[in-house]
Amino acid sequence: MTKLSKLQKFAAIKTFPNVYSSKSHDSNLVVNSNGVDMDIKGKWNEHFNNDAPLILEVACGKGHYARGLGKMYPSNNYVGVELKGNRIWTGANQALKNNEENVAFLRARIEFMEYYFAREEVAEIWITFPDPQLGKPKKRTTCPRFLDVYRNVLRKDNNLVHLKTDSDELYQYTLEVLNEQKINILYQNDDIYSKPLDFPELDIKTFYEEMHLIDNRTIKYLRFTL
Ligand SMILES: C[S@@+](CC[C@H](N)C(=O)[O-])C[C@H]1O[C@@H](n2cnc3c(N)ncnc32)[C@H](O)[C@@H]1O
Repeated sequence: MTKLSKLQKFAAIKTFPNVYSSKSHDSNLVVNSNGVDMDIKGKWNEHFNNDAPLILEVACGKGHYARGLGKMYPSNNYVGVELKGNRIWTGANQALKNNEENVAFLRARIEFMEYYFAREEVAEIWITFPDPQLGKPKKRTTCPRFLDVYRNVLRKDNNLVHLKTDSDELYQYTLEVLNEQKINILYQNDDIYSKPLDFPELDIKTFYEEMHLIDNRTIKYLRFTL
């Protein structure tokens, strides 16, 4: 198959039934695969045709966690949230080819998630290898502003947030924010592959994680409730 350019991938995802794209950064509307504007907030169950728990992978890139978890736990629904259309194309294209009906993608900025997910619509959030934003703490995906965004869409009970990262700085920063906010840390491990994995989900590896492992970086994991 000929390789698609970035522009061709942007055009293609607009026709994918498993991808919704935010209309603009300050609009609560998304555009579906028929080119129709819609308000999907509170209605993800209509996309999936069931009321299964909804779990997000934010900064999902190619959506390795959304897809990997979707296979591991077919009775849950997964949405990967990502800004870059060409990365979404890769994950969404594979998900379509493999009939992964419990996986979808949203092209949007994490900051504006409250436009697209209702209060308590989300059961869990995975943050996978986000940019550590060295020197820019206010842009980190675990800074207080982002935690508030997650709180506003997560269920009040039994919610879980997972952070998987190779970055010492982001890991330490996140521990500090969680401690400051007296947030319940359920699990922390600064070198998950140094011993047998404590959770089977941690065996899923993302595109960036594979690169970090080649560079012999240690992988860290935090699990907490908000
Ligand atoms: C280092 S990559 C990790 C991608 C993927 N999780 C992985 O591990 O392969 C970080 C991703 O976050 C996305 N990203 C950064 N800021 C974002 C934002 N504000 N909203 C949505 N996605 C964002 C980038 O486009 C990029 O794909």
